[in-house]
Amino acid sequence: MRQKILIARAVFPEVIARLAQHFDVTSNQDDVLWTPSQLIEQLQGMQGVFTTGSERIDAALLAACPMLKICANMAVGYNNFDLDAMTAAGVLGTNAPDVLTETTADFGFALLMATARRVAESEHFLRAGLWTRWRYDMFTGSDIHGATLGILGMGRIGQGIARRGALGFGMKVIYHNRSRLDAATEAQCQATYVSKQDLLKTADHLVLVLPYSASSHHAIGAAELAQMKPTATLVNIARGGIVDDAALAVALRNKAIAAAGLDVFEGEPKVHPDLLTVPNVVLTPHIASATVPTRLAMANLAADNLIGYLLKGKPLTALNAAAPR
Ligand code: DGY
Repeated sequence: MRQKILIARAVFPEVIARLAQHFDVTSNQDDVLWTPSQLIEQLQGMQGVFTTGSERIDAALLAACPMLKICANMAVGYNNFDLDAMTAAGVLGTNAPDVLTETTADFGFALLMATARRVAESEHFLRAGLWTRWRYDMFTGSDIHGATLGILGMGRIGQGIARRGALGFGMKVIYHNRSRLDAATEAQCQATYVSKQDLLKTADHLVLVLPYSASSHHAIGAAELAQMKPTATLVNIARGGIVDDAALAVALRNKAIAAAGLDVFEGEPKVHPDLLTVPNVVLTPHIASATVPTRLAMANLAADNLIGYLLKGKPLTALNAAAPR
């Protein structure tokens, strides 16, 4: 008998077609945002689920879905998974690393440049019909080339941003990470390890690329923002909750830092209302990995994990070692 899987959100039709060659597939092409109890209802009798970062997989869901064996996330981040509960329940979690690294690093740089060079703010000004003359000090921002790029979280994406900064823009790259990179990787990225305090104090542009966890919650709050240069910019392409968005809005309004670029938000898709009213912030709706080839590769990797695990017991990118149910 064919196993059953649920695709919890809308996805590329060709990925659904691939999965349908192997499983009885229930998909959600209307992209209904199910409540936790609706998701549990949809998961009854299913062996696998294709998730995005929006579906919370926790102990209550696992207890209510005894047939479930694997949750395959179409995202590199997996803070929507309670991995301990999944391991205890014998449910495998997989994510989608690597395939999005370069695309996401590109976007981190795009957001950094838009933030430092005031691209969004000046575009709004032009669209509002306010551009009547050239002025020497109109929308003056800060330079990227030759500046000091700080990176908090030096995984694959952080390294991609470091390479872009050092090799493409002649930036001095400094980073802080839970563990220091080996010497060869540091040399490849032309990046110097510093303490978090030195990173905050020294960076002209600080990019956040660390995973979200209880220990990284509000890693950048009022105290950290106060240590940054008043001319510095901050970019968050990691996860909402790593920055205290309320404190950031205050810092931006008071010009404690020059500007910020945010692709992720606490409680997204809601955005802190104060961030919507400060001009010196560029806001994008969690699109760092959003190119067609990359999103397709992420979806195919999630599908490969479902096929690999449910049919052959061999997932590609397992997050836990769950003794099968
Ligand atoms: C990821 O892969 O974690 C991106 O943030 C998309 O959710």
